[in-house]
Amino acid sequence: MWPEVAVLLLLLVQTSHALCHPASCGKISNISYPFRLKGDPEKCGEESYELGCENNVTLLYMNSAQYHVQAINYKNYTVRVVDPALQLHNCSSLPLRSLSRSNFSDTYTYTYSSDPYQAITSSYENWGSLSFEHILFLNCKHTVRENGKYVKTEECVKWDSKGYAYAVVGDLKAEDLEVGCDIKLVAPTSLRTFNNHSYTSMHSSLAYGFQISWINLACQNHPCPDGFCYFDSASQKLDCRRGPCELDRKLIYL
Ligand SMILES: *[C@@H]1O[C@H](CO)[C@@H](O)[C@H](O)[C@H]1NC(C)=O
Ligand SMILES: *[C@@H]1O[C@H](CO)[C@@H](O)[C@H](O)[C@H]1NC(C)=O
Ligand SMILES: *[C@@H]1O[C@H](CO)[C@@H](O)[C@H](O)[C@H]1NC(C)=O
Ligand SMILES: *[C@@H]1O[C@H](CO)[C@@H](O)[C@H](O)[C@H]1NC(C)=O
Ligand SMILES: *[C@@H]1O[C@H](CO)[C@@H](O)[C@H](O)[C@H]1NC(C)=O
Ligand SMILES: *[C@@H]1O[C@H](CO)[C@@H](O)[C@H](O)[C@H]1NC(C)=O
Repeated sequence: MWPEVAVLLLLLVQTSHALCHPASCGKISNISYPFRLKGDPEKCGEESYELGCENNVTLLYMNSAQYHVQAINYKNYTVRVVDPALQLHNCSSLPLRSLSRSNFSDTYTYTYSSDPYQAITSSYENWGSLSFEHILFLNCKHTVRENGKYVKTEECVKWDSKGYAYAVVGDLKAEDLEVGCDIKLVAPTSLRTFNNHSYTSMHSSLAYGFQISWINLACQNHPCPDGFCYFDSASQKLDCRRGPCELDRKLIYL
């Protein structure tokens, strides 16, 4: 009697996600575990990965902000999102809110954070690198000519009538922060092939969006007793790597 009950329970647990039909919203046609759409049965997907759907746009909620979902990749556990205010062919459009690595708890601690989304790539080759690059917006009291990293935003972005507006790719080292410049906004992009001398090219990359992942959730179902779980892009599967992961991360971030 008992073994049968156990088998039945196991079957129920295993199939409960499978009984959910993939939901669809606009161009995102395959919304399935861990995601669910608002209004789907509770057994489908996880509450912290609930997506919205408004006017055929799929919405992802993160840190009380919302983002437009551009693509979901279930093979490598990533989702690409874009700030709702960014318009592809309007280089004056800017993100509503700053977002950078510091908004993701996984970028400084390796305690399996309970945050639903991670910004660190946990593929073996790119271990520990960010899944996006930063673009910084600065407003300067003077023109900056000597520093090649400062790209004029030209007619696209102006913060105030007196200032000079620039965009800079990547993280600013202390020596790169020019006197009289304020950081106005930081925005992520995962399209790294832009022309770093052209603001319109940088803007198109921002409008492409940035990738975040749910690797921590995926790894919860992939125990690694002697090491840690990572995504192997060659086999397109989760795998175990030996060794203390915590140490690796500390080496990278401290
Ligand atoms: C939808 O996603 C599931 C994984 O959640 C995958 O098994 C299935 O092949 C996908 N279907 C399509 C049409 O992409
Ligand atoms: C959403 O897309 C569907 C199918 O493409 C279409 O029938 C519907 O009118 C669209 N709804 C809105 C609000 O745009
Ligand atoms: C995941 O797959 C997408 C689509 O193929 C790709 O653009 C992205 O770079 C991949 N990300 C990782 C972390 O492997
Ligand atoms: C472009 O974006 C700016 C800033 O968000 C906005 O004021 C302007 O109306 C937009 N232009 C068009 C043509 O949508
Ligand atoms: C990210 O962190 C910055 C600084 O703490 C904050 O101003 C911003 O609103 C945060 N962005 C989001 C989307 O939560
Ligand atoms: C611009 O990109 C090129 C090629 O990727 C790189 O070599 C160069 O250092 C970058 N320049 C700046 C100012 O970031």
